[in-house]
Amino acid sequence: MVRAHMEMVKALLDGSRSIVALTGAGVSAGSGIPTFRGPDGLWKKQRPEDLARVDAFSQHPELVWEFYNWRREKVGQCTPNPAHMALAGMDKQVPNFLLITQNVDGLHTQAGSHRLMEMHGSLWRVQCSVCTYAREDRSSLPDMPVCPVCGHLLRPGVVWFGEPLVPGVLKVAIEAISSADIFLSIGTSNLVQPAASFYQLAKDHGAVTIEINSEPTPNTGLMDFALHGKAEDILPELVLGMSD
Ligand code: OAD
Repeated sequence: MVRAHMEMVKALLDGSRSIVALTGAGVSAGSGIPTFRGPDGLWKKQRPEDLARVDAFSQHPELVWEFYNWRREKVGQCTPNPAHMALAGMDKQVPNFLLITQNVDGLHTQAGSHRLMEMHGSLWRVQCSVCTYAREDRSSLPDMPVCPVCGHLLRPGVVWFGEPLVPGVLKVAIEAISSADIFLSIGTSNLVQPAASFYQLAKDHGAVTIEINSEPTPNTGLMDFALHGKAEDILPELVLGMSD
């Protein structure tokens, strides 16, 4: 990482009144949660992308629930790391702030972030696969949990490949990004749309775009600044430099 870039980013953040931060699995790596596409992301030799699909649930609901119950158990033992805490600090300090996360682990909420949009839903929400029933639930679930209202199968309250985002999510994201001074892309491989294109919208509206990731992504060369290293190391230092 180029030290001079770090100092420039610190100065930019310090003067900013409007920030949108987009996070991905890399922000939770420091809490011990494997990223999606990293070498430790496999579950029983299956790739998470093959299970986080609407067609996987309709074909093999028992397998998909086994995977999600396993994830709930693992993630439930994890706690926020300094990257989550730094972003919660930014939320407190910056007048106009929105954190958009692709993560479903709930760790930004646990860290104290309030202006937060979980664009892919939450592991800690379950909803009926047929009716409108939904609840927040951190308890240990049966292998195939059923809806107490209609008796059909419950499903995890997450957005899967092949499904649209929750209505309104994209509109809120677009509005916030269009008026931000700074757009941060943190711990995401920038391979999944629409999040991977948010930087372009920010750029089109005059924001400074900054990537913080442990390795280059397809968007790296298009960003104004790219800080390569661990989010849990870089973010606390950036936030420490911000005055109230
Ligand atoms: P990925 O696993 O695709 O990317 C995580 C990125 O974080 C990679 O570029 C890593 O190099 C980087 N990384 C790893 N450790 C890091 C650390 N300590 N600090 C900073 N960066 C680190 O995860 P996402 O980009 O979040 O969607 O994936 C996006 C979406 O694809 C997910 O929300 C999920 C997935 O399939 C759905 O399930 C709908």
